[in-house]
Amino acid sequence: MQNSIQVRWHHAPFPSEMKTKWHTWTRNDLKQISHDFSGSWQKHLHACFQVVRSALNMSLPRSVGWTTSPDLPAEARLLIRDAARMYKRGVAFHDPCSEETATETLSGQYQIRQTEENSDELTEILTRKMADKAYFTLADQNILRHHVRLNQITHMPLEAKESLKTPETLIRIVECWDKFHQDKETALIIGGGIISDIGAFAASILGKSFILVPSTLLAMVDACIGGKCGINIPPFGKNQAGYFAFPDEVLLAPSLLRTLPEREFRSGSAECLKHAFLNPEASDITTLAGELRQLNPETLAHRLPELIRFKADLVSRDPLDRGERAILNFGHTLGHALEAISHSRVEDQHSIRHGEAVAVGMLFALILSRQTQQLPDHCYNALIQNIYESRILPHPEEVKQYLGMAPDDPHLPDIAWSYMIHDKKSDHNKEDSSRWILLSGPGRIARDQDAWTIPVSYQDFLKAWQTFIHIYLELFLTSSSSKIFSWKT
Ligand SMILES: NC(=O)c1ccc[n+]([C@@H]2O[C@H](COP(=O)([O-])OP(=O)(O)OC[C@H]3O[C@@H](n4cnc5c(N)ncnc54)[C@H](O)[C@@H]3O)[C@@H](O)[C@H]2O)c1
Ligand SMILES: [Zn+2]
Repeated sequence: MQNSIQVRWHHAPFPSEMKTKWHTWTRNDLKQISHDFSGSWQKHLHACFQVVRSALNMSLPRSVGWTTSPDLPAEARLLIRDAARMYKRGVAFHDPCSEETATETLSGQYQIRQTEENSDELTEILTRKMADKAYFTLADQNILRHHVRLNQITHMPLEAKESLKTPETLIRIVECWDKFHQDKETALIIGGGIISDIGAFAASILGKSFILVPSTLLAMVDACIGGKCGINIPPFGKNQAGYFAFPDEVLLAPSLLRTLPEREFRSGSAECLKHAFLNPEASDITTLAGELRQLNPETLAHRLPELIRFKADLVSRDPLDRGERAILNFGHTLGHALEAISHSRVEDQHSIRHGEAVAVGMLFALILSRQTQQLPDHCYNALIQNIYESRILPHPEEVKQYLGMAPDDPHLPDIAWSYMIHDKKSDHNKEDSSRWILLSGPGRIARDQDAWTIPVSYQDFLKAWQTFIHIYLELFLTSSSSKIFSWKT
């Protein structure tokens, strides 16, 4: 073993003290929900997801706590409590009929341990771990194709597809564990963000612990740190149900990245560069950009601790994502909108990858930072150069395929805006503002008084869009890697 990074966390999972508004669930609300209170956990889980769907239908914000009308039977109150825990990671729950406290405080810590990058050490560690038979192992089936020895220790191979990150797959995992491996107390989860999000959620629902073995760059620097797990609730979008749940430990084996497809590597590289842009103590970003371009796990292995530690420290300071942790959304305001547009217009396998959308979003956020936050020209040019040099930006022609429309299509900014202000009407309100993480320099986050996000008006957004299209298309006109950037638009 080489490096070891500690992640600490401490939080009240259902912070009722923060809630000012409450939604009361009544018998009437539950009429639509088929719950026969028979005690079967499958039925209970299905019913929980029906409650979550109802809440999504009502567009209930997370800031609203949940309470129940006193005439509801105890089982129904239990159902609302469990659904509250899942509703986008735990709204506050108050049960007027019991003494149950909603402010239980939890804390803990775990290690992220990095294995020697050029050895089979990981497989050996895992095989040794399996010898005591305490683990229920879930693994991405693509990894098993490449790392045959892991096959022998896997109980449940899974397909890593966003369209399968659903209640149905989750219930399938819980069922398999409950039926055939009840004696196993810990999940060993080997995969990228999809498998780790759903595997960790399944383990937490059963009250079991889990160990993560991230297999994508994105999972190594992002998804395995911070305790978020969950699933999508179609048609309501990504990660709409989940928990905060922290692993016992994370085993990091950069050698797994040798088989990672190039596009997935670049997608993870975008999050790596994002961490470097946000980190006031980042070492040379230009060197990192060059290393990311090489797509070489061995080169990157020595960089991972710094990139991981940055998020681990943020999570330790703000485990429940109530404040400072929001800065990790740099590049994500436009990025999430592009992902949503892509998923609504093209098939899963042709859609934009998360990191690709974030890379485009970071370019846009830098333009907005210069336009509204006085990001100095030399920083602006250097950071755009870093994005370009790292090769994380997808080509405009590729983006055209992923979005089903060209980046310079005149309708795109309006469609993106409607996603950013969560208003799907075509005559959406142009008076609204969208919220952005912006930079006033590398590692320097622009602030709006106490808030970490900056409001941006529709007019400012449109103005930045003109600049963005100009720069984005220009970047790909010639392909010289030694292009020197000096944008004075
Ligand atoms: N929990 C969090 O904090 C968090 C953070 C970021 C993203 N996410 C989630 O992560 C998901 C995206 O995850 P991802 O980008 O890590 O990838 P992924 O899990 O979608 O996997 C991408 C592809 O790479 C394949 N693959 C994975 N590892 C491989 C390997 N070592 N060799 C060969 N092929 C391999 C997979 O089979 C899949 O086809 C999204 O669902 C997103 O919501 C979660
Ligand atoms: Zn991200």
